[in-house]
Amino acid sequence: MTTIIRIDPVNPEPEKIREAASVIRRSGTVAFPTETVYGLGASGLDATACRKIFSIKGRPADNPLILHIRSASRLGEVAMDAGTKAARLSRAVWPGPLTMVLRKNPLIPSVVTAGQDTVAVRCPAHRIALRLIGESGVPIAAPSANISTRPSPTKFEHVLQDLDGKVDVIIDGGDTTFGVESTIIDMTSEPPTLLRPGAFTVDDLEKYVGRISVPKSLHNGVAVGQPLAPGMKYRHYAPSKRLALADRTSVMLHAPEVARAARKRVAILCSMETAARLGAHDAQSATIIQLGSSSDLYDAAKNLFNAFRALDRSSAELGIVERFEERGLGLAIMNRIYKATGGLTVKNAKELAMLLGG
Ligand code: TXA
Ligand code: MG
Repeated sequence: MTTIIRIDPVNPEPEKIREAASVIRRSGTVAFPTETVYGLGASGLDATACRKIFSIKGRPADNPLILHIRSASRLGEVAMDAGTKAARLSRAVWPGPLTMVLRKNPLIPSVVTAGQDTVAVRCPAHRIALRLIGESGVPIAAPSANISTRPSPTKFEHVLQDLDGKVDVIIDGGDTTFGVESTIIDMTSEPPTLLRPGAFTVDDLEKYVGRISVPKSLHNGVAVGQPLAPGMKYRHYAPSKRLALADRTSVMLHAPEVARAARKRVAILCSMETAARLGAHDAQSATIIQLGSSSDLYDAAKNLFNAFRALDRSSAELGIVERFEERGLGLAIMNRIYKATGGLTVKNAKELAMLLGG
C-alpha cells in the first residue's frame, strides 16, 4: 500500500513532513520532489532500506546512489577530506542541482556506493526535500523515482505511474523546476571531471572551481571506452517507442507527408519555432509534442522527459526529436536525447520513410 501525501512546495506543512520522515526513520521508502526530478528516497545510513530502492526500481546493484544532505556544512558526515575546492564549490552553489563525487566516509554502507570508495553527494534546492532530510535526521539516498530505463519523473503523476503500490509514500509536491537531473562532477580528479551534464552548466560551475574537464564522449553521446559514471552504461531516460534524432529541421517539416505516404503516424518532438513552421499539418499522420522555445533551453529541459512519456502514450509508431545546440543547458538536453534515441538518427525524408517501413 502506498500513501500519497500532498505537500505545499512553497510552505511545506510540518506535520506532513514529520509523517514522511517517520517512514524514512523506520527503514521505509519515500518518493519526494527535488528541483531537478523526483527522487526515490530511503535512509542513506541503513543498508536494508537502501536495498529496497534497488529492488523497487529494478536497478542493477553496481549502479551507486546519490546521498542527499541538508546543507553544505554536513559534507563531512558522508565524505572524507573533501578538500578546499569541493568545500568552496559546495558553499557557493548548494542548495542547488550539483552532485559531487568525493572519497566516501566509512560510515556509509557499501550498498549505497555499489562497493566503490567514492560517494556522490548533493544538497537539493527544494523545500520539501530539505525539510524531509532535516526531519529524518539522516542523509537520504535517492536515485530518480522511475522504474529503471524509464524517463526520470518530473511530475507527481509520473511517479504514480511507475511506483504506485511499490513504495511506502509518494509525496505530491507538484512539478519539478529544471526537468533534467543534477550535474555530476568528479572532484577526486584534478582538474575535476564532468561525469553527467545536468541542470547546472559547466560555465556556471567553472566560476567557482576553475577548469572542469569535459570528456568528448559527452558531446556526441557515443560511449567511448569505460562509462564515466557506472549508471551511464545503461540505456536511460528512454521511451519504450523508437525515437530518432532529426538531423535537420527539414526532416521534421516533411515528416507529416512522409508518414501519410507510408500510412503511418509519427510524433514530432520539437521547439515552438519548428512547430510554427510545421503550421497546419495532417493531424492523422503527425502528432506535435512541443518542447518549448529553442531560445529558452530551460523550457526544453523542463518538458523533455514529459515529452518522452507523451510519445509512449501517443498512437505514433515512431518519434523524431529536434537537435538542440550543445551549449550551456543544451549539453544536458542533448545527452538525454542521445540516450533516449540510442544513437538512431534520420538525415532525410528517404531515411524517415525507411524507418517507418513505408
Ligand atoms: O538530480 C538528480 O541527481 C536526481 C535527484 C533525485 O537528486 N537523482 C538522480 O539519481 O539522478 P540517479 O541515481 O538516477 O543518477 C545518479 C547517477 C548514476 O548515473 C550513478 O551511476 C552516478 O550518479 N553515481 C552515483 N554514485 C557515483 C560515484 N560514486 N561515482 C560515479 N558516479 C556515481
Ligand atoms: Mg536515474
